[in-house]
Amino acid sequence: MTICLGIEGTAHTIGVGIIKSDKGRCQVLSNVIKGYHPEKGGIHPREAANHHATYVADVLSDSIKKAGVVFSAVDLISFSQGPGLGPCLRTVATAARALSLKLKKPLLGVNHCVAHLEIGRGTIPECIDPVLLYVSGANTQVIGFAEGKYRVFGETLDIGLGNCLDKFGRSLDLEFPAGPKIEELAKKSKTYVKLPYSIKGMDIAFSGLLTAAMQEKKQGTSVEDICFSIQETAFAALTEVTERAMAHTEKKEVLLGGGVACNMRLRSMVETMAKARGARFFVPSRNLCVDNGAMIAWLGLLMYESGIRMTIEDSMINQRFRTDMVQVAWR
Ligand code: ATP
Ligand code: FE2
Repeated sequence: MTICLGIEGTAHTIGVGIIKSDKGRCQVLSNVIKGYHPEKGGIHPREAANHHATYVADVLSDSIKKAGVVFSAVDLISFSQGPGLGPCLRTVATAARALSLKLKKPLLGVNHCVAHLEIGRGTIPECIDPVLLYVSGANTQVIGFAEGKYRVFGETLDIGLGNCLDKFGRSLDLEFPAGPKIEELAKKSKTYVKLPYSIKGMDIAFSGLLTAAMQEKKQGTSVEDICFSIQETAFAALTEVTERAMAHTEKKEVLLGGGVACNMRLRSMVETMAKARGARFFVPSRNLCVDNGAMIAWLGLLMYESGIRMTIEDSMINQRFRTDMVQVAWR
């Protein structure tokens, strides 16, 4: 068992990655990503699923071509089983089942959040036992391995930070996704306007921050100052929770994942915190941070090699597939 093809499709992105196991490390042969961008407003699950259905075959053949392999060389098919949007998950699961039956190769559904963590461990040799700060559109979680499972030490109580940024961006008529544009605008300011900093125990909330930012805009506060202040507030809260998780678990590594991890200000805050604790800071390359098929493929391979098997009947999607529901047999 060496080559695995993974299909990702929990939300905006349909992705197919092909990876090879090389002495226990992950070698990415190809990682093709195609995003769905709604013309107006937020993501509509049905439309995103239609997008995935339309492009999955093209993305598959493109990925096979880029990897320089033939379909018959693939040993295993894995797919994102959850958490995510129902219609998107069902579309991708259907494609994966069809491919598995056609190629007569085993099938494994994997947890999307755990895949974000494992791809860091698989591709960065020094990254062995990190606390993962996973920040994407829909998800914001601090995850670490403890007592046989991946556990969520802290998470958002309402929306993911990416969604918060995208919603604020929409109110400014910025194109989706707004995160990168907000980062640019934030660079033009150094004036902090006070926004609610909401941490409850180890959990975080962002909807109050979003409402307050919208309010500031209505009152005529400069857009650059608001963007700067949203970033400073939200990233500081994330860094605080991550640091507490590291202190609690006594882990000496921190890993970033998810689309928001592309943000240089977030990286620098977390890196500064890590340095101050004498811990190491890691961030995978951009294509492995955002939703992608390679991470799904890599986790599939780890699971398969640890003896986990799945029948077609077991491969039902789970919109609320929690990180700590995963049976971790490979660590
Ligand atoms: P998931 O299903 O994991 O929630 P997703 O569909 O939101 O994933 P990702 O590609 O992981 O996908 O993340 C996209 C999010 O990342 C968007 O909300 C986008 O605004 C945000 N983002 C991307 N680049 C940046 C950046 N430089 N700064 C801040 N946010 C960013
Ligand atoms: Fe993700």
